[in-house]
Amino acid sequence: MQTHDEMTLSRRELLLAGAASAAATATPAHAATAPPSGAGAASARMKTSMEVNGKLRTLTLDTRTTLLDALREHLRLTGTKKGCDHGQCGACTVILDGRRINACLTLAVMHEGAKVTTIEGLGTPGALHPMQAAFVKHDGYQCGYCTPGQVCSAVSVLEEIREGIPSHASADLTAQPLLNAAELRERMSGNICRCGAYSNIVDAITEVAGRTS
Ligand code: FES
Ligand code: FES
Repeated sequence: MQTHDEMTLSRRELLLAGAASAAATATPAHAATAPPSGAGAASARMKTSMEVNGKLRTLTLDTRTTLLDALREHLRLTGTKKGCDHGQCGACTVILDGRRINACLTLAVMHEGAKVTTIEGLGTPGALHPMQAAFVKHDGYQCGYCTPGQVCSAVSVLEEIREGIPSHASADLTAQPLLNAAELRERMSGNICRCGAYSNIVDAITEVAGRTS
């Protein structure tokens, strides 16, 4: 029969063995072969060139840099906004090779040679893009934080409809999508506006669609 001390010791041994086993399980398999942090950091930088708003821009970036941070922090194109940084709000929408994309969800180094258009590349205060002008005319914003993403998305939405790309709201996936409020609302649903300017945004897009269709 075990004494109290023997029982205490074996319990302690059991706990130590458990802790050692948990630590071994939690240690990543690559940890034993991981390079020292200095060497790892040096090898994680890469040169990347993109055409941004018509100009060739070359950056040497940490490979983990998002396209959003490359634009805002490295190129100082702060028109593109960071809302959630998780692909949930659309504030970071830019147009990449003709398609809208959440710049917070993609790494800059994945887009070597790509053409990126940000809000700064669509129009200027003195020469607004028709979509920017329509947002102003229809009060398609209040605080304006979501607006660069909304405008980039809206420009792409009209292009998608023109190209016949269906949305979740399209009744017939093989027919030319309709240009109605339900289609526009569905296609713009990835762009959140906390000020609730949604109906004015749809009015602005509808006006531009009428002009260009
Ligand atoms: Fe990219 Fe919100 S900041 S989706
Ligand atoms: Fe304020 Fe859309 S205008 S969040």
